[in-house]
Amino acid sequence: MKTPPKTFHVKSFGCQMNVYDGERMAELMTAQGMTAAADANDADLVVLNTCHIREKATEKVYSDIGRIRKTAGKSGGDPMIAIAGCVAQAEGEEIVRRAKVDVVVGPQAYHNLPALVAQAAAGTAALDTDMPLASKFGHLPARRRVGPSAFLTVQEGCDKFCTYCVVPYTRGAEVSRPFAAIVDEAKALVDAGAREITLLGQNVNAWVDADGRGLHDLIRTLDRIPGLARIRYTTSHPNDMAQGLIDAHGDVESLMPFLHLPVQSGSTRILKAMNRSHGRDDYLRLLDRVRAVRPDIALSGDFIVGFPGETEADFADTLSLVDAVGYAQAFSFKYSPRPGTPAATMTDEIAADVMDERLQRLQASLGRDQRAFNEASVGRTCHVLVERVGKLPGQWLGKSPWLQSVHLIGDHAIGDMVTVELTGATQSSLSGCVPHAQPREMLNVLHNVLTV
Ligand code: SAH
Ligand code: SF4
Ligand code: F3S
Repeated sequence: MKTPPKTFHVKSFGCQMNVYDGERMAELMTAQGMTAAADANDADLVVLNTCHIREKATEKVYSDIGRIRKTAGKSGGDPMIAIAGCVAQAEGEEIVRRAKVDVVVGPQAYHNLPALVAQAAAGTAALDTDMPLASKFGHLPARRRVGPSAFLTVQEGCDKFCTYCVVPYTRGAEVSRPFAAIVDEAKALVDAGAREITLLGQNVNAWVDADGRGLHDLIRTLDRIPGLARIRYTTSHPNDMAQGLIDAHGDVESLMPFLHLPVQSGSTRILKAMNRSHGRDDYLRLLDRVRAVRPDIALSGDFIVGFPGETEADFADTLSLVDAVGYAQAFSFKYSPRPGTPAATMTDEIAADVMDERLQRLQASLGRDQRAFNEASVGRTCHVLVERVGKLPGQWLGKSPWLQSVHLIGDHAIGDMVTVELTGATQSSLSGCVPHAQPREMLNVLHNVLTV
């Protein structure tokens, strides 16, 4: 028997969908009467909301469990530990065996967390990795208080089965939440303080409802919510990039000029081995169509280097694709074999030093392009949504429409939408100033009117 926990701390790893899930778990436990602790060491219950995408991410879970026990033990505590997220789904009972945790709960079952915690408090380790047909969303409490930029999961799961990827196994098949439930949650988020909503899904642009409406229909409806100034969405798959969604980038004012569209490799041969179901040229043509409707759009992507069998010529194709696109930002990873995926049994692995060297060259190219994109923004005037305080006194940090971080000094507040002239650039951020003094009342009036 353990005392039922009164305080909790949720730590999320991995993608934005995990961040969203972590917020929803926190809301769920708050609704049960528990209090959030800012530090894991002060919590009776620590929830590690885990990521399984690469080996390093998974191993981190076990080292974190050890660290929590050690530091909490020093202050005489023995917190209950719950493992949620994709490692929970993938490893299930193995985690209980290996790390003796109290609760293991998968991404589709976390609405049961309070019951699982109660079971663990009564003395039995509790496990739930079911993927029930009925969605968890109906069991979660209403949204209450959020920051100016909020996440909203609209789609979950993946049917694409890229040969390297665990997501179809940890998150299950593609499922879209109903239209009305999403619109209601978006309105609740705006009432709770959001001025920007990022629609989330492992394949967000595959969102579709029973009436055949697509993501662009949803975006056009959300665009009419008073007080919602900005809409974003991530992550998209090239094959689900419908013309309706591309067109929305041309005429929906609140839809921000930013598109994260992972390509993984610039080599059609490697893309085929990855089961990406699009080639290099399909991807480049698609981006041309997006740029035709929104020439200033900031493009982002994901890359994997060192996929089994990747030759120097394949990698050169990736570098030349990067040169052709000119990404505003991008994520790049070394290939990590994942147990149970088809690629894990491929034998023509790439040596670690070759992978390292390729990653360095790719990141040098991507870094160069990110800096160039930021430098080209200097001199522009745009709206910046202030999201948090900066490190220096009087400094604020916000985002431009193109998702660049912008540093500002002045009389601002979190949630303000400020007209800013971009004055300086580094690879990772911009600095800006208010072109002429804007009294606070004026800004508040402009709040609902300004979008980009
Ligand atoms: N659904 C999204 C994101 C999936 S996971 C998509 O299709 O793009 C985020 C990124 O992690 C992927 O885009 C890919 O670049 C990377 N990734 C996935 N599996 C990986 C693996 N086994 N090794 C290295 N990187 C991987
Ligand atoms: Fe993974 Fe591919 Fe699905 Fe993205 S599309 S989640 S990379 S299987
Ligand atoms: Fe990681 Fe799961 Fe997201 S594996 S990237 S937390 S979907």
